[in-house]
Amino acid sequence: MTQVFNFGAGPAMLPIPVMQKVQQEFLDYRGMGASIIEISHRSKDFDEVINQTDALLAELANIPDNYKILYVHGGAQMQFSAVPMNLIGRKAARKAAYVESGNFAKLAQKEAVRYGDVSVVASSEASNYDYIPEFRIESVGEDTSYIHITSNNTIYGTRWQQFPDTGEIPLVADMTSELLSRKIDISQFGIIFAGLQKNLGPAGLACVIIREDLLDYALPETPNLLNYKTYADKHSLANTNNTFAIYMMRLVLEWLKDQGGVDAIETQNEHKASILYNIIDNSEFYVGVAQTAHRSTMNVPFNLANDDLLGDFLEQALANGLYALKGHRNVGGARASIYNAMPVTGCEALAEFMQEFERTNS
Ligand SMILES: Cc1ncc(COP(=O)(O)O)c(C=O)c1O
Repeated sequence: MTQVFNFGAGPAMLPIPVMQKVQQEFLDYRGMGASIIEISHRSKDFDEVINQTDALLAELANIPDNYKILYVHGGAQMQFSAVPMNLIGRKAARKAAYVESGNFAKLAQKEAVRYGDVSVVASSEASNYDYIPEFRIESVGEDTSYIHITSNNTIYGTRWQQFPDTGEIPLVADMTSELLSRKIDISQFGIIFAGLQKNLGPAGLACVIIREDLLDYALPETPNLLNYKTYADKHSLANTNNTFAIYMMRLVLEWLKDQGGVDAIETQNEHKASILYNIIDNSEFYVGVAQTAHRSTMNVPFNLANDDLLGDFLEQALANGLYALKGHRNVGGARASIYNAMPVTGCEALAEFMQEFERTNS
């Protein structure tokens, strides 16, 4: 097999040692003569898996004791419904404020509109989301139940460099494309959610980190399996959960711990991103999408000054083992998603290819 460097935005590259471990344990999970994928979610072996996943996540993300970790069905977009259903009832006015910094922020806001009085308090839509719009807490009334942001905008390659202080109003963050890629002060947030498929494991499940005092506000019509309290009370096992995804998440977290944890991976992520941004900044052939001060370390979208060359660029990149570099349709061009599992050598290989392509096509 010739391994490619997978720059896809998600499902995304997973650490090779994790996939090797899955392969090695698949038929016979730690000598029990059965696979983890076929044993009960209520067995003691799975209990150990979920407990260890909790413990590792709490340790790596430095989660305070007054937060619960939940594993919730349906991926990240399901949380676009779950968040308002669980939290918009915190205040009688049923108000929520959304910062529109990208397509996923917009989808989240559109979903929330069904449940209350939802406003967009800042937006960068007019410039196709190439920066994080400025948010002013004064624009939000005290009767607001929560404020929603997308911490890293996967499509546009922007991220919040610093998070807003929202005082008593809970800050809710979609961290799907960056949880555990940099140090975050969890106590600044009421709820953090992330689909697993970038930095945490396979697609289809979301991890939710919620402050305990926010578990009691679900609207009466909230389905049981979208109610965060159900997950908190039943340790995410009210019904048969995606045990295999949780098992893989544990392996990814073990891998991250072996890498030196979030501190070490953050330093490496900054280095990886700088390898690509250096090429973009020192060239007129490539044009970065995001405004410099707002750039992400996880997603690096860029255009070719001559868009006619894009097809050749992508084709030759693939021939060189650089997979899934096509940009999202909302932006066009190319995008390198360089999550935790992307090694430095992957970014170096891409940088080398970009220079060579520029040399032969200028
Ligand atoms: C920031 C962000 N939010 C939400 C989603 C949607 O995730 P899902 O497909 O798990 O619903 C994505 C997917 O790429 C994302 O990048």
